[in-house]
Amino acid sequence: MGYLPKKSERPDGSLWPAILVGIFASIGGILFGYDTASISGILTMNYWVDTMATTTDASGNPVITTTQTSLVVSILSVGTFVGALLAGPAGDCFGRRLGLVAACGVFITGVVLQTIAHALPLFVVGRVVAGLGVGIVSALVPLYQSESAPKWVRGTIVGCYQLCINLGLILAACVNYSTGDRNNSGSYRVPVAIQILFGLILAGGMLFLPETPRYLLQVGKVEEAKASLSFLNSLPVDHPALLQELREIETHVELERAEGVGYLSCWKSPILKRQLTGCALQALQQLSGINFIIYYGTRFFRTVGIEDAFLATIIVNVVAFVSTIPGLYLVERMGRRNLLLIGAAGMAISQLILAVLGITVTSTAGQNALIAVVCIYIFFFEFSWGPCAWVVTGEMFPVHVRAKALSMTTASNWLWNFILGFITPYMVDSGKGNADLGSKVFFIWMAFCLLAVAFVWNFIYETKGLSLEQVDELYQQCSKAYKSPSFRRTWDFEGAVASAGSQSDR
Ligand code: GLC
Repeated sequence: MGYLPKKSERPDGSLWPAILVGIFASIGGILFGYDTASISGILTMNYWVDTMATTTDASGNPVITTTQTSLVVSILSVGTFVGALLAGPAGDCFGRRLGLVAACGVFITGVVLQTIAHALPLFVVGRVVAGLGVGIVSALVPLYQSESAPKWVRGTIVGCYQLCINLGLILAACVNYSTGDRNNSGSYRVPVAIQILFGLILAGGMLFLPETPRYLLQVGKVEEAKASLSFLNSLPVDHPALLQELREIETHVELERAEGVGYLSCWKSPILKRQLTGCALQALQQLSGINFIIYYGTRFFRTVGIEDAFLATIIVNVVAFVSTIPGLYLVERMGRRNLLLIGAAGMAISQLILAVLGITVTSTAGQNALIAVVCIYIFFFEFSWGPCAWVVTGEMFPVHVRAKALSMTTASNWLWNFILGFITPYMVDSGKGNADLGSKVFFIWMAFCLLAVAFVWNFIYETKGLSLEQVDELYQQCSKAYKSPSFRRTWDFEGAVASAGSQSDR
């Protein structure tokens, strides 16, 4: 677990209820990771191809055409993109908690449709519907976690979401591997249907967990907000620290309500700059090229001559999962900004080496070196940009627009995920109409990582250890006059919060 402050540095009570609640919500990451990864294995399963194919090849064997393949793969991102946009209204109308329950319902419906499908059209519809569910979940989980987490461990808790995304990726690879060779419908129905279980666990658990105190105050439910804070901090409802925190959140809710709560207000000053920053941060996370390895890693390893490309892919997935763990600790020690800077610089250097190795190596030793450098690149991503893009976007908006703004930054993540997933084969592959870049594509990802360093240096403020209300103060201070991100080091935020009529312990 991340950096737990000494007992004397924080109010009475315990951080553990909030930590466990946040970790439980991370299960949403498993839905995300598993659903995006499972299709690549399913596409190769003979029984699935036989069931879904509408045409045959020259020898009379059923085949899935290229257009059908790209439809089945990319349609999920259409669902997730729209789903992410729906997360705003869902989180505001039903609340963060019931919004998640509803999203699981949508997701399960989509999975059931895919499971019972005997033909491609219903399977595709199921993918869109499941995608809608994943899209809503992908925005509401970091929202729920940020709003319920104590400030000392907020980064760690939201980081667990990334850990679970990677767990989902590994689970998908393992389940596909274990059922893929069966010669009956279970080969693909089992890996698809298993997701119902993840959805039920998340929805069932959320029914028993508290709504976030910030949402409850926003909708005027003061008593419920007190009860939620009391549960999350394991403090009695009349404890002074709890009442003080409640007052601080209330003051912010009041002040912010005056700014307007519609979608438009996310794109108008004073929120505009944060909205653009959040969308750009998520876009750069995708432009780091991570999903080139996650989605097309096996193919890439094959093209550079690595024999056991599947084994190489599993190694990469395990490295991705393990590398997230130091990030959970470092995000509260070194801070979001430093991790993002180090991660982007580390990725850029690894990508330069990868591009050169990919062009030049032919020996087995060279190929092993290439797999090792891919693992280093993944390591730099997973402890930094992987979790931090979710952490930073989850905490940078004020409560009155948080659900809507976060749903748009998440939609930006899915949009770029889709664009890159779609165009990458055309950039990398040889053949007519393709750019035939091969490993030279790493030069492109490297350029974006360098851009990411400049972007973080200029636009990302350090929010480690601040309550969400203090984060809002920080952004407001910075927008009054141009302040460099190092401003945070000198900013007397305790004083600023006190002068705004509130003071925080969280
Ligand atoms: C991040 C990205 C996602 C990617 C994953 C890999 O969460 O948003 O697109 O697949 O990391 O670990």
